[in-house]
Amino acid sequence: MKNPLDMTGRRVLVTGASSGIGQATAILLAELGCQVVLVARSEDRLQATRALMPGGGHTIKAFDLSKVETIESWLKEVTTSTGPLNGLVHSAGIHRTTPIRFEKPSVDDPLWRINYHASVALLIAFRKPANRAQSASVVLVSSIVGLIGQPGISAYCASKGALIAYARAAALELARERIRVNCVAPGHVHSALSAAAESKLTEAQVKAIEDGHPLGLGKPEDVANAITFLLAETGRWITGTTLVVDGGYTAH
Ligand SMILES: NC(=O)c1ccc[n+]([C@@H]2O[C@H](COP(=O)([O-])OP(=O)(O)OC[C@H]3O[C@@H](n4cnc5c(N)ncnc54)[C@H](OP(=O)(O)O)[C@@H]3O)[C@@H](O)[C@H]2O)c1
Repeated sequence: MKNPLDMTGRRVLVTGASSGIGQATAILLAELGCQVVLVARSEDRLQATRALMPGGGHTIKAFDLSKVETIESWLKEVTTSTGPLNGLVHSAGIHRTTPIRFEKPSVDDPLWRINYHASVALLIAFRKPANRAQSASVVLVSSIVGLIGQPGISAYCASKGALIAYARAAALELARERIRVNCVAPGHVHSALSAAAESKLTEAQVKAIEDGHPLGLGKPEDVANAITFLLAETGRWITGTTLVVDGGYTAH
């Protein structure tokens, strides 16, 4: 029987592949036969992810995505060595808890660099015909807080909401080039990022987040499943949308 999630013969670049959602995505894609290009800053942690992945042909490319201005030339170098990409997953991201009264707006905010501007630069570079296959899929990792508000993290919420709007517009513009662009919007998922965010909250606040997820908190694998669904043949008629993966949080 044909498996519509089969990724054999495809090559996908995954940012944030050293941890959490990106790591789970890299492992699942490898299990489905995909060749994965693993990206994050720490080469050692990428090697650790690579050791968990079956199959061959995976490539490690340690890179700091906050160097947004160099992403285009860097991706050209990457695909010159790996060959063109069938997919791109931007999972690298950072979180910041800062109440509005303490926010210091800056046009060079590192949070915006990695969460939003790196996404835009990656998509611009990915779109170039030399860098990707004829038919290709992009998944940007947003968040449910890009759809609903949460106090104390307004800059993070805004950066994730911007991704959703960007994916919709890019999907319309790039459909004729056979590039699909979608987001996933996870709820609270166990990871290094969420553990750091939780450390700024009271026990009662953490409990309220847990209680808000009718199916309980998520695992990185839950989001990896949704990302893979959008990348694979299963997602071939899906573009410009955001798949919410939140254990029912936004159903309230
Ligand atoms: N966990 C959640 O509850 C949750 C919920 C909704 C949305 N999200 C989103 O999901 C995505 C993944 O989150 P996660 O929970 O998996 O976080 P994580 O475990 O902290 O992983 C973040 C990844 O991003 C990489 N990274 C960070 N800064 C980078 C940079 N400048 N250049 C290259 N790579 C960089 C990190 O690797 P290095 O440190 O080695 O660079 C790491 O691989 C993020 O965009 C996050 O906003 C998470």
